[in-house]
Amino acid sequence: METLAIEGPTPLRGEIEVAGAKNSVSKLLTASMLTAEPCRFFNVPAIGDMEITKRICQALGAHCTEGVAKQLDVQTPRISVAAVPESLAVKNRLSVMMLAPLLHRHGRAVVPAAGGDRIGPRPVDFHLEGYRRMGARVETLDDVYYLESDGLKGADIALPYPSVTATENLLMAATLARGRTFIRNAAIEPEVVDLALFLQKMGAIIDYQADRTFIVEGVSTLGGATHDVMPDRLVAASLGAAAIASHGDLFVRGARQSDMLTFLNALRRIGGGFEVQSDGIRFYRDGALRSIAVETTVHPGFMTDWQPPFALLLTQADGMSVVHETVFEDRFVYVHELQKMGADIEIYDTCLGGQTCRFAASGHRHSAVIRGPVTLKGAEIDIPDLRAGFTYLIAAILASGRSVIRGVEELDRGYEQIDESLRALGAQIERIDA
Ligand code: EPU
Repeated sequence: METLAIEGPTPLRGEIEVAGAKNSVSKLLTASMLTAEPCRFFNVPAIGDMEITKRICQALGAHCTEGVAKQLDVQTPRISVAAVPESLAVKNRLSVMMLAPLLHRHGRAVVPAAGGDRIGPRPVDFHLEGYRRMGARVETLDDVYYLESDGLKGADIALPYPSVTATENLLMAATLARGRTFIRNAAIEPEVVDLALFLQKMGAIIDYQADRTFIVEGVSTLGGATHDVMPDRLVAASLGAAAIASHGDLFVRGARQSDMLTFLNALRRIGGGFEVQSDGIRFYRDGALRSIAVETTVHPGFMTDWQPPFALLLTQADGMSVVHETVFEDRFVYVHELQKMGADIEIYDTCLGGQTCRFAASGHRHSAVIRGPVTLKGAEIDIPDLRAGFTYLIAAILASGRSVIRGVEELDRGYEQIDESLRALGAQIERIDA
C-alpha cells in the first residue's frame, strides 16, 4: 500500500497547471473506438485511471501511441473481442462505457460489473434500460452483463435521474443507431457536452435543448477526429480549496471560470478569495471565512466531487455550515477520518438546509453540519475514495503535526504526481514505505 507522510501546517503558494479531466478523457477514448480511423488527443493526463482505460481499450483492439507533450493517438482497426477482461473491469467504472463500440462493431458485449469509488451502490440500470430500448438483448448473470444486437435503433429514452455516464453511454450508442434518439432528463455536465463536441467532429449529429434533452440523428459511419481534453474542473476546485484553507495563494493555470461558476459563487459567499485571469484562476485567503448552506446537485449546480474539499474548507469557516449531498448516498464516508483530526462534523440521514431529496427516507447519512473554525491535528488515515483522498491531503497540510495517509494509489488514479506537485507548492510531503 502506497503511503504519504505529511508535516503541517504549511500554506500552499505558487503556480500549478491543471491536467486534462479524468472524467472526460476516458469517455473520449471509448468514443474513438466507434471508428476504425485514427483519433488524436492532446492534454492527456498522466494518471492511473488513464492507464486502466488504455488497457481496457487495448484489450478490445485499440492501438494507442503516446506522443510528446501529452499527446495520445488511438486507432481501432477492428474489434474482435466481445469481453472486457474482469481483471481490468474491477479497477474503474469505464468498462460499461465500452458497450457502444462493442455492440456497433462486434454485435456482442460481455462486461463485468464496474468497480470505482466506494461512494454508494452505483448501479448501471439506466444504461442497460437505455440499450434495451434501443433494441439490444440484455441479460445479467453473476454480475456480468451480456448484450447482443443486430443493429441498434433510435429510441425515446427518459432517464429517471440525469446520470453523467448513462447520458454519455447512450449518446455514443445513439450516434450510429438507425433513426433518431431522444435522451430526456439527460446530464449536461461540461464533460458530457465536451463528449458531444468530439462525437460531432467524428461525424455525429447531436442537438441538445434547454430542457435537458439530447436529440441524436443516427449516421451510418463515424470518422477520425482530433480533440483537446478539457481541464479537470474537479482538480482545479480541489487545489483552490487547498490554497484558501491553508492560508496560501495559488495560481491554477488552465482552470476555467465557465466550468466552475457555482463553485466560485460558493467561494465568494464564504469569503474565499479568487481572481479570474485569462489563462487560469488565482485562489487565495482573504480574511476570515464565513459559514454557508450548500447543496450538491447535477450541473449547473454545485457538483458532488467538489463536496469533500469544500466541506474541509468549511471546517475553517466561522460558525455552523450545512452540506446536503443529493447525488451519491454515501459521500460522507470520509468524515470519520476528519473527525479524528479534530473536525467538528456531524452527519445526518435527514435533508438539511435545502430541499427534500431522493435520499430523504433512505436512512443514508447524506447531510452534514460543520462547525468551525477548528485547528486540525495530524493523524493516521486510510483513503476511502479519490476525492476524499485529496481532501485528507489538504487536511494534513492544514493540520499541526505529522499525518500518515495510506492507500495513495487511489489518489494516483485521478491526480498527476500529486506529492511532487504539492511539494513544489510548499507542502512537506514524502512517500514512505508503510
Ligand atoms: N444512477 C442510477 N442508475 C444508473 C446510473 C446512475 O441509479 O444507471 C444514480 C447513481 O447511483 C447516483 C446518480 O444516479 O445516485 C448519479 O450518478 P451518475 O451516473 O451521474 O454518476 P457516474 O456517472 O457514475 C460520474 C463521475 C463521478 C461524478 C458523477 C457525478 C465518471 C467516471 N464518474 O459518475 O466522478 O461524481 O458523475 O458528477 O465520470 C470522481 O471523479 O471521483 C467521480 C466519482
